[in-house]
Amino acid sequence: MKYSNLFKTLILFSLFALLSCSKGNNDVFTSRKISFNSNWSFHLNDSIIDKDTIGSSTKWRTLNVPHDWSIEGKFDEKSPAGYGGGALNGGLGWYKKTFKVAVEDSSKVTSIIFDGVYRNSEVWVNGHYLGKRPNGYIGFQYEISPYLNYGDKNNEIIVKVDNSKQPNSRWYSGSGIFRNVWIETTDKLHVGQWGTYVTTPKVTAEKASVNFETTIQNQNSASKKATVTTTIFKEDTKVTSVTQNITIGANTNQTIKQSAEVETPILWSVEKPELYTAVTEIAVDDQMVDQYKTNFGIRDFKFDLNKGFILNGKQVKIKGVCMHHDLGPLGAAINTRAIERQLEILKEMGVNGIRTSHNPPAPELLDLCDKMGFIVMDEAFDMWKQTKTKYDYGNDWDKWHKKDLIDQLLRDRNHPSIFVWSIGNEIPEQWNENGVKIAKELAAITRQYDKTRPLTAAMNPPVNMNIDEVTLQFEKNNVSINPLAASGVLDLIGYNYAHQTYEHHLKNFPNTPFIATETTSGLQTRGYYDSVSDTIKKWPVSWDKKFEGGNPGNTVSAYDQVQTPWGSTHEATWKVIKKHDFLSGMYIWTGFDYIGEPTPYEWPSISSYFGIVDLAGFPKDVYYMYQSEWTDKTVLHIFPHWNWKAGQTVDVWAYYNKADEVELFLNGKSVGIRSKKGDDLHVMWRIPFQAGTLKAVSRKDGKTVLETEIKTAGNPDNLKLTADRSNIKADGNDLSFITVDILDAKGVLVPNANNEINFSLKGNGKIVGVCSGDPVSHEPYKGSKHTALNGKCLVIVQSTDKTGRLELTAKANGLKPATIVITAE
Ligand code: GAL
Repeated sequence: MKYSNLFKTLILFSLFALLSCSKGNNDVFTSRKISFNSNWSFHLNDSIIDKDTIGSSTKWRTLNVPHDWSIEGKFDEKSPAGYGGGALNGGLGWYKKTFKVAVEDSSKVTSIIFDGVYRNSEVWVNGHYLGKRPNGYIGFQYEISPYLNYGDKNNEIIVKVDNSKQPNSRWYSGSGIFRNVWIETTDKLHVGQWGTYVTTPKVTAEKASVNFETTIQNQNSASKKATVTTTIFKEDTKVTSVTQNITIGANTNQTIKQSAEVETPILWSVEKPELYTAVTEIAVDDQMVDQYKTNFGIRDFKFDLNKGFILNGKQVKIKGVCMHHDLGPLGAAINTRAIERQLEILKEMGVNGIRTSHNPPAPELLDLCDKMGFIVMDEAFDMWKQTKTKYDYGNDWDKWHKKDLIDQLLRDRNHPSIFVWSIGNEIPEQWNENGVKIAKELAAITRQYDKTRPLTAAMNPPVNMNIDEVTLQFEKNNVSINPLAASGVLDLIGYNYAHQTYEHHLKNFPNTPFIATETTSGLQTRGYYDSVSDTIKKWPVSWDKKFEGGNPGNTVSAYDQVQTPWGSTHEATWKVIKKHDFLSGMYIWTGFDYIGEPTPYEWPSISSYFGIVDLAGFPKDVYYMYQSEWTDKTVLHIFPHWNWKAGQTVDVWAYYNKADEVELFLNGKSVGIRSKKGDDLHVMWRIPFQAGTLKAVSRKDGKTVLETEIKTAGNPDNLKLTADRSNIKADGNDLSFITVDILDAKGVLVPNANNEINFSLKGNGKIVGVCSGDPVSHEPYKGSKHTALNGKCLVIVQSTDKTGRLELTAKANGLKPATIVITAE
């Protein structure tokens, strides 16, 4: 049935909610929830610690959340967060907002929902203390109706955020109300917080059974008779529905179970992430009083000891990446389009999995993974009771871990993209019996709330490798099997690194399937190369003596040859994972560079070198190795650039697929044909540099498959602007990511250009971030100028709620400027 009455009502409800909430919303997830992001007042002041002293004389700045105040600061060598935390300062901040609530709502239940506040948030409404939440990465909500004024009288909400004690996170955390805030208004009889649980216990091509567990909350002082109807929709088409009558006592919760069947279900897969929606409606005397929407997917999966990950009956290798939660120049303030762009770039590379290292992510990331088709490992903790940094969550463990874990499970368990729960990353207690005890407790909680997914822990590593350069941690704990791995608590043995041991997995763990929770940790600066690739091979010579000086400007050569001693090159780990079916897959550290942990360097480096994609979103060369292996695209990528000294010896690498050979031509003359042998993933030529054109031709059976060339660039002459999208929504949130290329007079990218670019914007919009991907740059990400790195720079433009033309101009001294027009509509 198309556009059932029920669905029409839902649409009307949603439209009403969209209209009644302030502009600048993200998706309105259900009709009950409206955005509460706009018009907050903010004040940063370490010395005001008491709510009652934030008098009217305090200077407040107006802003919209999500907001990260740390990203607005200066990089500071003395920052207590250290370079590991991005050398950006925390501090103590206050947010407040006044608002009115309609008289009609006085008979309803109103709650405020925070998707995440980093960290130690405390909230008051009209002077009433609502509570504290130390963990910055988890969502929480407070009912505020008992304290509200209705009608013309104002209400005031105050939020204290204390991120002053540093360090407290690995890696850059950001500070403030860095995720979305919502107001939820419901009838007193309503679906509870995270009140639905949808599972699909039996899935075949013909039929899927769908089970619903719905928690109904009755906040009336009388018992209620009601009808609970759950309807499944596929887009706008009603699939089926189930109804149940209930009687629910005054001021109680009741969980009801319903089941439905979906004939010839359209399954969720990585290639076609098909979603269904369950709409739960509560009616009293035939009047609908509450409506709640849950997206879910129908899929069948298992981790098989011998065959790896099986999704809908088909073996799927998990080609995943770990992602830290920051969004580069935007900091930790979440923006749905910025997350979507990261996922698009990764999808294009062939990535099909995301590990939310090392904390529960923003809900929007999971919604996007549901829609875009990623296999998510949702991770709860980076530490348990034993701290990793002085002021981290370990200090809050005893009081909060149970609540935080339960809330993560309740919040996330309907997402079809989540396939694995990780109860922790490289937890120090993994080495002792106390760790096993804690793991048992966490596993019991996890299984109580969700039995449909396996759980793992990222162990470093599960077995002793007996080789020299392992983590110091491991050498200290001279055991051959990690006690946590041996305990039998985990459903999957999660390997961090130790790729040398993967082939022996079935010998060491004959009963438990494999997953590589974290791999590789290769190191690269985008666009920087030591001309001969293996000169860098042995560097860093001695890791514990700190890389013996390193490279000028804290660069790392982007040939895939520099790695941490605990990790491997990109090729080495993928070669092993690729070879065996029982190796279900891997999550590479990391998809994108992130702020903090600038290994192998220290200050003045402040952001990471681990990413396959840099902090600005520009791919490093190894991106194309994965693309050639992980996608159906035809790939031929050669590097480095072609600007060297005459006669200098240069290594040229090519990543390619769908061809038997690649021939390289320098200024029209062949310098040789190369073919990958055995498990090779690239080919190489070592040739003397001569300015001009380097051209590669890939061939299959003698026929040309692809051709590509790179040319020697002249001096910088002009700028070119390219927008990822030139039409954006006028919703105050949407973004256009604009790439600046520095070109010579003939239009060739100048690969070592580092001009300072100045940006100006006309029209209703603002520049919200600038970045070059340079881990050493201390220029603010929130400025309107930035120095390019190796010919490239990024500027991010955000719409306001007004439609119109945005005109961005980029200028650099001595170069021809460029202008681009973006339309906000
Ligand atoms: C891992 C750790 C990550 C990151 C990575 C760098 O051991 O889990 O957080 O530090 O190493 O290689």
